[in-house]
Amino acid sequence: MGKEPRTELPVKDRSERDLADRILRERMEQISHKLLVLSGKGGVGKSTVAANLATALAGAGKRVGLLDVDVHGPSIPKLMGLDGLPALGDDEVLHPVKSVKGVKVMSIGFLLPREDTPVVWRGPRKYHLIRQFLQQVDWGELDFLVIDAPPGTGDEPLAVAELVRPRVLAVLVTTPQDLAVADVRRSVNFCNEVNLPIIGILENMSGLACPACGHRIELFKSGGGEKLAKATGLRFLGSIPIDPKIVDCGDSGTPFAADPATSPTAKAFARAIEPILAVDAQPDVHTVSRPVRKRKAL
Ligand SMILES: Nc1ncnc2c1ncn2[C@@H]1O[C@H](COP(=O)(O)OP(=O)(O)OP(=O)(O)O)[C@@H](O)[C@H]1O
Ligand SMILES: [Mg+2]
Repeated sequence: MGKEPRTELPVKDRSERDLADRILRERMEQISHKLLVLSGKGGVGKSTVAANLATALAGAGKRVGLLDVDVHGPSIPKLMGLDGLPALGDDEVLHPVKSVKGVKVMSIGFLLPREDTPVVWRGPRKYHLIRQFLQQVDWGELDFLVIDAPPGTGDEPLAVAELVRPRVLAVLVTTPQDLAVADVRRSVNFCNEVNLPIIGILENMSGLACPACGHRIELFKSGGGEKLAKATGLRFLGSIPIDPKIVDCGDSGTPFAADPATSPTAKAFARAIEPILAVDAQPDVHTVSRPVRKRKAL
């Protein structure tokens, strides 16, 4: 992992840096598990999955945080229906904004003057912000901190992989089509490279049940996520169907999984969190998957 961004930390001397490292370590130790939601592909539903996983975990009685590290395209405030300003407490500690279901949320989106303000930053500045979001936010004791990353294997997931240890697991999101699966294979290899264990692969936008006749339409094909899971020896966390209600819920800021009884889609989220809830009982979850190099492997 690159050491270069460390030099950008606003620490004036060694002891300040040591103190900053200690604060970060203590905060991270208060969080039992960090779940980094990743995909090599844009638009596959990472933010939707992150918001719904966090809400489903909170619904299961867990203490949950949700951190948006998509610095250039923060979607989490909108998806969670939040627009409050995080309160600044003593010692420059930021208090996360709480969702209706009690999820503690932090995003650069809360700090921008307007929703359409662009963030034009290079890597080191993003690294510094992500570090502040981990170190200077009063997350308190959490069972899970769900982290929504931008697409790809760039600065943001790299910063998270370095900063949130110990006990971090990646959740890989793909759509069923080959184009997305190929990009997610890159994410699998990224996780192996940075020694980031993967809890499983979730296939999103997996088939659409026609609202009129119930006939299933495989809009983006089907089974790609499960095939990738088999090829890599990773757990398959299940399939989330295409559901127009997800779009409405995203736009209205009501995470879908808030009420698992509502539909098969909400139930699919409830099923996807089962292995996550059982993570402490699964010693094998911390194994790293097989690298996937060849296209033909699928
Ligand atoms: N299962 C689904 N059914 C229907 N629409 C969905 C589903 N999952 C996500 N969407 C919609 O797809 C769009 C993209 O979702 P989202 O923003 O979560 O993707 P993303 O992977 O986070 O994108 P980005 O790469 O830009 O961060 C949104 O409009 C969202 O409402
Ligand atoms: Mg997103």
